[in-house]
Amino acid sequence: MSLLIKNGNIVTAGENYSADIYAEGEQITRIGKNLDAPPNATVIDATGKYVFPGFIDPHVHIYLPFMGTYAKDTYESASKAALVGGTTTLIEMICQASAQEPMRDGFELWMGKAVGKSACDFTFHQAVTRLDQDTAGQLTDIVESGVSSFKIFLAYKGAFDMTDKELYDTLALAKKLGVVVTAHCENADLVLELQKKYLGEGKTGPEYHYWSRPPRVEAEGVHHLATFAETHGTHIYIVHTSCKESLDEAMAAAERGVNIQIETLIQYLVLDKSYAELPNFEGAKYVMSPPLRDKANQEVFWNALRKRYVSTIATDHAPFDFVGQKEMGRDDFTKIPNGIPSLEDRVNLLYTHGVAAGRIDLNTFVDAASTQAAKIFGMFPRKGTIAIGSDADLVVYDPNYRGTISAKTQHINLDYSAFEGWEIKGRPSAVTVRGEVAVQDGKFVGTIGRGQFVKREPNHF
Ligand code: URP
Ligand code: ZN
Ligand code: ZN
Repeated sequence: MSLLIKNGNIVTAGENYSADIYAEGEQITRIGKNLDAPPNATVIDATGKYVFPGFIDPHVHIYLPFMGTYAKDTYESASKAALVGGTTTLIEMICQASAQEPMRDGFELWMGKAVGKSACDFTFHQAVTRLDQDTAGQLTDIVESGVSSFKIFLAYKGAFDMTDKELYDTLALAKKLGVVVTAHCENADLVLELQKKYLGEGKTGPEYHYWSRPPRVEAEGVHHLATFAETHGTHIYIVHTSCKESLDEAMAAAERGVNIQIETLIQYLVLDKSYAELPNFEGAKYVMSPPLRDKANQEVFWNALRKRYVSTIATDHAPFDFVGQKEMGRDDFTKIPNGIPSLEDRVNLLYTHGVAAGRIDLNTFVDAASTQAAKIFGMFPRKGTIAIGSDADLVVYDPNYRGTISAKTQHINLDYSAFEGWEIKGRPSAVTVRGEVAVQDGKFVGTIGRGQFVKREPNHF
């Protein structure tokens, strides 16, 4: 298998130059001008197009038992959607329904959902929802199997949340094992009490989801986690940071030496809380946690991204149909399954509203949507860049393409799109996974089951 991409404008997190890329087998073997290839090579002409490293979504849910139901996607649908949208590697969360189930079983279950079914490469963050001697041993085994990041929830009382003692012990274990701890930061008790307050006042609509999880509740979670992490020197990564208050807490922690990385989501950059206020329960499509915020936060995050205070842009893809699933919360916003799916749209929305709108440059775009995730989660330089020896995960991107997003044409398995009718400026015209073409002219042509588990070594000592 050989692949030649000719005449592209190659963009990495730090460079921008014109050259050809040649891959013999699964890795890039040559980069240079006027490269030739054997007659049987696949040749892609990238004249007038960018060539980016395959994008990485570091926060995805595919198999997710959650809030009395299951997320809609399978690895078949999600990996196709990811690839059409330019994402060649995703990191899914292993989130078991019950904290009492053995974690080793969770790891096997999630592997079983992905191996042989995914068209893109994948790896996992291991959720830790309880910690004792036995689970610490299982976690050590799972890290040895190649999962070098944990996920913890300070939110979701009675489901995924943990005690402060467990938090303390988890952060100590992570430090010992050299893994980074990703964390959903919202104060679970405050959320619960505020939910009771609003429901008690008869305020049951989707718009009250925001009021039950105001910015301070999230910022308190960030502060709480940073304080605990500081005690052990553990490396932490704040998932789905949504508001200035949380960003300020994270930046303050970074200034005093806490090793902290910040993720935000494409949803927070382009949507705001008015969407969750749409009439006739339409707002339920826009319920996720932390909630969409006041529009003023968007500029704060575009600035933080431009300055690279924010490391990564993810999706927290968690798909629940409007009919039959979001509708479970018609009379009670606390029963609306949380999630605004965007796995397929992340890269195009970031390009359209970031690069094409002049808010961020191309290198920052690549850094936030690919390179930083590879570095933080131990996949660099195999993933996240274009270099000799790196996997030939490449996105040939057409900046002149114009199209619209619609549920009718999307590949994710969902009955709506949160971005219905939105214009995109640019899209991947070709995508390769380890040297094989998986998307051509915007259409999936890849191989279900070819996606590999990316084994990751601990890199946060
Ligand atoms: O609303 C969200 N974020 N849904 C998925 C679960 C989580 O919190 O990551
Ligand atoms: Zn979360
Ligand atoms: Zn999540």
